[in-house]
Amino acid sequence: MATAVSIMPDGKESPMQAVPGPILVLGAPGSGKGTQAKELVKLWGIPQISTGDLLRAHRDRGTELGKLADEIMLQGKLVPDSLVNDMVAARLTEPDIARGFILDGFPRTLPQADWLDQYLSGNDGPSACLPVVAVKIQVDYTQLLRRITGRWNCPVCQTIYNVYLQPPKIEGVCDVEGAALVQRSDDTQVCFEGRMRTYESLTAPVIEHYRALGRFAEVNGDQSVAEVAAGIVSSVERLRAQGQ
Ligand code: AP5
Ligand code: MG
Repeated sequence: MATAVSIMPDGKESPMQAVPGPILVLGAPGSGKGTQAKELVKLWGIPQISTGDLLRAHRDRGTELGKLADEIMLQGKLVPDSLVNDMVAARLTEPDIARGFILDGFPRTLPQADWLDQYLSGNDGPSACLPVVAVKIQVDYTQLLRRITGRWNCPVCQTIYNVYLQPPKIEGVCDVEGAALVQRSDDTQVCFEGRMRTYESLTAPVIEHYRALGRFAEVNGDQSVAEVAAGIVSSVERLRAQGQ
């Protein structure tokens, strides 16, 4: 496969896949999936597909799916597989996925993983030439809670901040847009505990699914954003070099 040189998030030069292909970023609530997906978008020029963001966009537009999702998200539970799969299928018809895409928060049940495997094997776009590879970001419980309860987002450009760990230059204001930052309604401690239970019971088996297929790597998420991103990039490079 053709390669090009690119600058990694830690400033080092690295060969980059001309076609990164489909990449799953997995991990518990607050592990840094969204933060890392945005780093990979900058590096590889392929889109981030976040099912959480897509569902929140439905909620903000007031669609039936959005109303249902809002209730479920506040309980820390999962939106039914068929609804999420349909939403992802619609997103995967867009032309920007041709060189690959970063799935953030999907699949998070075994039926979703089975659906994705089947969907991609029946789809003959360029990104489907490569198999899906999954990278899990590992962060411990105490740190996750701090990340969730300290998170604020820009409603305009979606930049993610953390009052404890990655504060904006001016409190409550986006560095890029100057907009007032907002907190997610599911970022309370009670909701986080429910989200963690859901993650451990329904999403942990997805990790084992990709591990068993030999298309899995784990990265220590308790490092700087640039170091975690560099770990994800080298994991994907290694898996692709192994023929995955
Ligand atoms: P979703 O939006 O996917 O939420 P989540 O999985 O709980 O993950 P988060 O978005 O909370 O965290 P993240 O890992 O993206 O971390 P972030 O980068 O923001 O899903 C929400 C809900 O939608 C679900 O509960 C469910 O109801 C529904 N849903 C979504 N997908 C679904 C699906 N497939 N099926 C069914 N239902 C679905 O970072 C967190 C914080 O940490 C930030 O403040 C950030 O600044 C900070 N941070 C990140 N990295 C670092 C670092 N290296 N060092 C210091 N701080 C850091
Ligand atoms: Mg996220």
